[in-house]
Amino acid sequence: PVSVYENAQIASLKVADRIANLIKRKQDREEMAVLGLATGATPVQVYEELVRRHKEDGLSFQNVITFNLDEYYPMNPESRQSYVTFMNENLFDHIDIKKENIHIPDGTLEKEEIADFCIDYENQIEALGGLDLQILGIGRTGHIGFNEPGSAPNSGTRLVTLDDLTRRDASRDFGGKENVPTKAITMGIGTIFKAKEIILMAWNRKKASIIKKAVEGEISGEVPATYLQLSDNTEFVLDHDAAAELT
Ligand code: F6R
Repeated sequence: PVSVYENAQIASLKVADRIANLIKRKQDREEMAVLGLATGATPVQVYEELVRRHKEDGLSFQNVITFNLDEYYPMNPESRQSYVTFMNENLFDHIDIKKENIHIPDGTLEKEEIADFCIDYENQIEALGGLDLQILGIGRTGHIGFNEPGSAPNSGTRLVTLDDLTRRDASRDFGGKENVPTKAITMGIGTIFKAKEIILMAWNRKKASIIKKAVEGEISGEVPATYLQLSDNTEFVLDHDAAAELT
């Protein structure tokens, strides 16, 4: 299903609400909530609202385990551009999540360690009974996570090469495309698909044409987000601008 909201702020509150309700439902049953998280501009207001609910409404994250979708490779976690820094600044530093419950692909691994790390990432998710909810943004290449065009529908967590457009879109954060890493470690399409619920968010006119392809286009590895059309537990949460080209 596709839900279109007036603007990104209102849509973000709805998504934050779903996350908070999941966490509370799990608390009532004394269970852990296992969340798949994204970085980038898109989820920032969702995280802001979750932080507000923690500070003002006492929403606790003690029963939350998180797995981030991706990290650049190579990447020092201390670096300003790392997804570790992003998550700490936008969410983790402001809530009561236990540090040991946070998982983000490791950008400091040696090349030969990556394959084992990726298998372990998958196994950890599976051992917890899978992701309860995965939130996603979408890149202008149609990537989800860093699953660029050509990604297989059953792909798992792995090292990938970033598309040129993705590196161009990231160039502002890195002070030039030449400084953007060429690779990343990302959950696969298959990993994402196993989540019990998936929410793909998109705001802004800049996303309108890729959203049209993702929601209405032919299902193909050329636009990895089109695979989500095959899932019955995915909701596309859009603002008016991102939905502008939908028929
Ligand atoms: C981030 C991620 C990416 C972004 C996408 C959109 O963890 O996996 O797929 O969601 O590149 O980025 P923004 O939100 O910055 O437009």
